[in-house]
Amino acid sequence: MVAKAIVIDCDPGADDAIALFLALAFPEQLNVLGITTVAGNVPLSLTQKNARCLCELAGRADLPIYAGCSRPLLRPLITAEDVHGKTGLDGISLPEPQMPLQSQHAVDFLIETFTRSTGNITLATLGPLTNLAVAIVKQPAICQHIHEIVMMGGALTQGNITPSAEFNLYVDPQAAQIVLTAGIPLTMVSLDVTHQAIATPERLRAIRAINSPISAATVGLLDHYGVYDMQRYGFSGPPLHDPCVIAYLLQPDFFTSYQAYVAVETTSELTMGRTVVDRWHVTNQPPNANVVESIEADGFYQLLTHAIAKLSEP
Ligand code: BDR
Ligand code: CA
Repeated sequence: MVAKAIVIDCDPGADDAIALFLALAFPEQLNVLGITTVAGNVPLSLTQKNARCLCELAGRADLPIYAGCSRPLLRPLITAEDVHGKTGLDGISLPEPQMPLQSQHAVDFLIETFTRSTGNITLATLGPLTNLAVAIVKQPAICQHIHEIVMMGGALTQGNITPSAEFNLYVDPQAAQIVLTAGIPLTMVSLDVTHQAIATPERLRAIRAINSPISAATVGLLDHYGVYDMQRYGFSGPPLHDPCVIAYLLQPDFFTSYQAYVAVETTSELTMGRTVVDRWHVTNQPPNANVVESIEADGFYQLLTHAIAKLSEP
């Protein structure tokens, strides 16, 4: 089997952290070429640092990590410390990272990497889409070189940052519009899917039982991050948004999806960042997204538990 080449654009963030662990556990399936970071859950200075701490914890200090855009295209940055804590990784404490931050800007890394490729690299986006949007504006030709974008973002029904909008698209709706209209094959993993992937106490028990530094970090992060969603939605545990993107790359058969035209609201303050999904093709617009609608949650948690166990091996 040839490993799928991917770049991960993220804003760690507790669920981004678990997504990185999942991606790094199966190098025979996913070849992570680099990690780009963006301002989102916490400011850029923290997301880039967190990405380095997490790679070191996962034993991958060799990975190149890039810092990208420190603010959205037009709107002021909105962060999510209420969910992820002040550091972005509250609930655990990791040593200062020793691995370097690359000097190249994340946008230039994206342009260079995709332009040089043969069109075989997938981009997993786990945060606001600012880095990719700027890369598209700076070098539009990269669009033809991106195999696929698999994006955590958007909501089919209710949002989480406003009643209409999901956090990643709300933070930078103009960037999302650039990405959605770029003609790049795109799979959208919305909140409606990730809210099906709840880390219940029983699922967390299986991860805790692995009893390693990485399982302890996973559970520590989720114990903290779960509080917000459990209080807000009455869930029995936190939903793991970003890891669903990586699971989609590893096991697409866990998911069902349909093709549809997706637009994002960029003008109305009331519904800013809302994804409008034309499920029944009433606009006659050609589909621009593969919209995921369900996940096989038990299979997903078995995969995640296996990943944490694998990363825990000496
Ligand atoms: C998304 O927003 C962030 O808080 C999470 O990391 C995830 O990417 C969920 O709406
Ligand atoms: Ca994220």
